[in-house]
Amino acid sequence: MSLSFAATLNPHPTSAERRAEILANPGFGQFMTDHMVTATWRKDEGWGEGELTAYGPITMSPAAAVLHYAQEIFEGLKAYRHPDGTVWTFRPDKNGERLNSSARRMALPELPVEDFVESLRILVEADEAWVPAADGGEKSLYLRPFMYASAAFLGLRPSTEVKYSVIASPAASIFVGGPKPITLWVSQHYARAGAGGTGAAKCGGNYASALAGQIEGAANGCDQAVFLDSATQTYVDELGGMNVFFVTKDGHLLTPELTGTILPGITRMSVLELAKEFDLTPVERRIEVQEWKDGVASGEILEVFACGTAAIVTPIGELRWEGGSAPSTAGEHGGEVTRGIRARLLSIQQGRSEDTYSWMQRLA
Ligand code: PLP
Ligand code: COI
Repeated sequence: MSLSFAATLNPHPTSAERRAEILANPGFGQFMTDHMVTATWRKDEGWGEGELTAYGPITMSPAAAVLHYAQEIFEGLKAYRHPDGTVWTFRPDKNGERLNSSARRMALPELPVEDFVESLRILVEADEAWVPAADGGEKSLYLRPFMYASAAFLGLRPSTEVKYSVIASPAASIFVGGPKPITLWVSQHYARAGAGGTGAAKCGGNYASALAGQIEGAANGCDQAVFLDSATQTYVDELGGMNVFFVTKDGHLLTPELTGTILPGITRMSVLELAKEFDLTPVERRIEVQEWKDGVASGEILEVFACGTAAIVTPIGELRWEGGSAPSTAGEHGGEVTRGIRARLLSIQQGRSEDTYSWMQRLA
């Protein structure tokens, strides 16, 4: 490990009463904890020492490269309180590896995976009181590491100064009374990624470019948009912030293969590994959106679901597109396999069932 993090604790942390009020109803991404982690990289020096400080505004030059050329990447993972009071996170090494593959694509410096994991540990140790209790619900502390080009220079070149930070935000389940199927809009006018582009990197620009499809979907009464391959508008890629899966009548657990335009989700990777527990064969291949429409009509496709850190596993209901729709196969709370995989994944993350895959890592 190369980075150490000097700690200066927040002299004015949130009161215990206010924190309890927030943790009772945290929503998603609305409230931040008392601390943040920061480290600076310089072209000639590499990574300098890290620090843990009070959460607060960032000062930067209006000429900072990130504000003009979007040289920025991020990660998302959660800290879970286990029944014995300890705090754990899910496959953080995979997030660290993905941060580095995003960094390579966006001409940002790599951060050693052990430093990445240590930065999470340092923040969660300081803000442990913000990790929601293990109360049978689905609350957790969402961790948001991010890295951006901070050098003040308007010329187009890789930034000579880069900041890495981690912030944290308590998160509730998005669902009250069990997961509810979401309605999806097929985005035909807007793509989120293209061949040779940045679809496989977790960079902010991908999310900005997905918003127009999301807005079009909302105008058509949908919760989220699903994006197709931009070259032919034929194959299913993914949602703006989730990967997609199909359960077929012939026992396959099917997901679009990683073509370079899809984010390699850690949840996706884990669901593929869980398939065998449900007597399903995991299959990664290209999937035509027409196959989805036909499969729902013929009964070949039994269930469709989306997955990701924020979404966990979310049933997909109706599919709508310009001029048509395919009905939901999800019932009120998703099909049996969707609910089964969701429950198994959550029970591992929350420490309620044996972590037979050694996916969990202790943070506090
Ligand atoms: N796809 C996109 C575009 C995402 O932003 C996310 C969320 O991080 C995912 C998929 C799911 O990835 P993960 O399971 O690693 O959270
Ligand atoms: C996550 O699931 O961690 C994400 O990054 C989704 C985010 C766009 C809200």
